[in-house]
Amino acid sequence: MKKLTKILSIMLVIAMAVGCFAACGKKEADNGGSEGNSIKFGTNAEFPPFEYVTQDGTIGEFDGIDIAIAKQIAEENGMEATIDNMEFDSLIIALQNGQVDAVIAGMTVTEERAEAVDFSTPYYTATQVMIVKEDSDITCAEDMADKKIVVIQGYTGETCVQDMNYEYEAFKKGTEAIMELVNGKCDVVVIDSATAQKYVDDNEGLKIVEDPNAFESEEYAIAVKKGNEELLEKINAAIEKMIEDGTISEFAAKYVDADVE
Ligand code: ARG
Repeated sequence: MKKLTKILSIMLVIAMAVGCFAACGKKEADNGGSEGNSIKFGTNAEFPPFEYVTQDGTIGEFDGIDIAIAKQIAEENGMEATIDNMEFDSLIIALQNGQVDAVIAGMTVTEERAEAVDFSTPYYTATQVMIVKEDSDITCAEDMADKKIVVIQGYTGETCVQDMNYEYEAFKKGTEAIMELVNGKCDVVVIDSATAQKYVDDNEGLKIVEDPNAFESEEYAIAVKKGNEELLEKINAAIEKMIEDGTISEFAAKYVDADVE
């Protein structure tokens, strides 16, 4: 009899604990969802000057051109911006499953991506470039043919090199790719222009080689879940205003000059 009471009371405690967890979990979901007063932006903060981690950022520990833009978009709409930092490859999935409301990640508009998400008005024009050692004999994209090429996994730079039918190795982070180059383990890194400039500024002995014939210009835009017109309209209105009044150029100038790790 005593034993039964003990078992029953243990079960009661477990039931209460489970109930509490469920309640707590629900509360969190209510606050963190797309509803209400915040826009949850997904990014991959491995892409200076657009997004990087720093001690005292514009939103929490995050800073960069995109982070400043995200904050401004939210403010224009009387909302707050939060940042969810994840791998670049996971961003579109996070958008699709509702983990984030929007993706701001120096993301190039491509046909393939536009099938999966809706893109805002573009806010920045870029191109792929080659980063090489200062004494490299690479002067155009064709010169990469017999070289050891490194790209970043899932970036448009990877697609470009794939389309050229060159062999390459893909790394998860730009900094890892640059270390390969600095350490002489590869000959060239293909990556977006502004980020390349940052890496060349921060690492001695590197230079940028451009080839406009091989690399087309790319446009960065914010992505939302397919069909989320309400949010897209808010984002577009804010972006268009920021392009017109020069805010985006200001942010670009500020973060390109900023000393970023
Ligand atoms: N523009 C390139 C792309 O769309 C690279 C973007 C990388 N962005 C980042 N936050 N890591 O694929």
